Amino acid sequence: MKGDIRDASLAGAGRKRIEWADRDMPVLGVIRERFEREKPLRGLRVSACLHITAETANLARTLQAGGADLVLCASNPLSTQDDVAAALTLEYGIPVFAIRGEDRDTYYAHIRAAIDHGPRITMDDGADLVSEILKNRPEMHKQILGSMEETTTGVIRLRAMEAQGVLRFPILAVNDADTKHLFDNRYGTGQSTVDGIIRASDILFAGKTVVVAGYGWCGRGFAMRARGMGANVVVTEVDPIRALEAAMDGFRVMAIADAAPIGDLFCTLTGDIHVIRAEHFARMKDGALVANSGHFNVEIDIDALEAAAREVRRAVRPCVDEYRMPDGRRIYLLAEGRLVNLAAAEGHPACVMDMSFSVQALTSEYAVRNGGKLEPRVHKVPREIDEWVARLKLKTMGIAIDELTAEQREYLASWEAGT
Ligand SMILES: NC(=O)c1ccc[n+]([C@@H]2O[C@H](COP(=O)([O-])OP(=O)(O)OC[C@H]3O[C@@H](n4cnc5c(N)ncnc54)[C@H](O)[C@@H]3O)[C@@H](O)[C@H]2O)c1
Repeated sequence: MKGDIRDASLAGAGRKRIEWADRDMPVLGVIRERFEREKPLRGLRVSACLHITAETANLARTLQAGGADLVLCASNPLSTQDDVAAALTLEYGIPVFAIRGEDRDTYYAHIRAAIDHGPRITMDDGADLVSEILKNRPEMHKQILGSMEETTTGVIRLRAMEAQGVLRFPILAVNDADTKHLFDNRYGTGQSTVDGIIRASDILFAGKTVVVAGYGWCGRGFAMRARGMGANVVVTEVDPIRALEAAMDGFRVMAIADAAPIGDLFCTLTGDIHVIRAEHFARMKDGALVANSGHFNVEIDIDALEAAAREVRRAVRPCVDEYRMPDGRRIYLLAEGRLVNLAAAEGHPACVMDMSFSVQALTSEYAVRNGGKLEPRVHKVPREIDEWVARLKLKTMGIAIDELTAEQREYLASWEAGT
């Protein structure tokens, strides 16, 4: 068997989970049917470094239907669903290199195994695959037609590579498509972050003071949902425009240092480093919960928390570590500071990943069709892909919208009429 998974006997359970998610991914289903007929990815080797979840499995099945020869590895050591990895490898013939809880060395060994597949197309959620290729397998750049990037942090890293002149092949910024970040980051992260925090801690949101660090697409989704459950939401930001938006959306906005002593729950969603630090832990209440739903485990300064604590009790519940401070206060870190929605829950619901992964599939097809013609820089997803996905999603939801009349089209294109 090619691949490296935890337990082959989980394959049956994984298949059920994949099929359940598929029911809520109708747009991807339409693409899969077309891919099956047209085989736009025929014979192409694809390596994808994504969260190994049921939704990703349905993307993988779609690429396989299109003729791709595909392998997968994890984009986060704690987000892998081992049953899904087993089902993909054994039941669908798509090798997966991912084991939930794998250590750092195994995580990178799995990324290297995916690169050894010799991809012409790559997919990333955080740019780990591309970084590894550029650092350690630079000769491979000639064969890569394009690389899709799924998340905000990855796009930021890839733009940094472009700015430094080290990017050697074209990147398609899937995250920046409207049908991706406006829905996945906002409604997907919003709901699944609440889900992960509740599954880990079983807290009641109502009446709690919830501090949301970052008011980007993910942060506003989580802030909105936490408020909907009755929490008093405080937002912290560094961008004055987003801080103003949060204030006018009705949230209390303040510096993290001022929020530290009043928060019952803190959640970072910034893509930034050390947003919550030693000086903030020093002021937190006894029993404060701290979580992260941004991409990496760097938003909370975990080393500082370890250093400040008198005692650490691991796994007082699954996904909860207790840090007892010298003055007796307890601070609870959820999911080791990794994405709480994926580590403690199941990630985004399939309904929203339907759009993100439809964009992934169609953008891969676009990269293949334009093979060799795209420059080695970060490209936008073509607008037609976004509009096609949005229209079909609306249709599957039973929603009809208006079309411009000829008169309206003419009016909106003219500058003379109107006053
Ligand atoms: N949990 C998930 O499943 C999931 C899903 C999508 C994206 N992400 C990740 O979540 C992170 C945020 O994504 P996004 O799309 O909301 O990005 P975004 O760029 O829209 O928003 C990030 C916000 O954080 C703010 N910020 C930066 N440093 C800060 C600091 N020190 N204090 C307070 N605010 C700060 C920025 O000003 C910005 O407004 C990224 O790392 C992204 O990759 C996670």
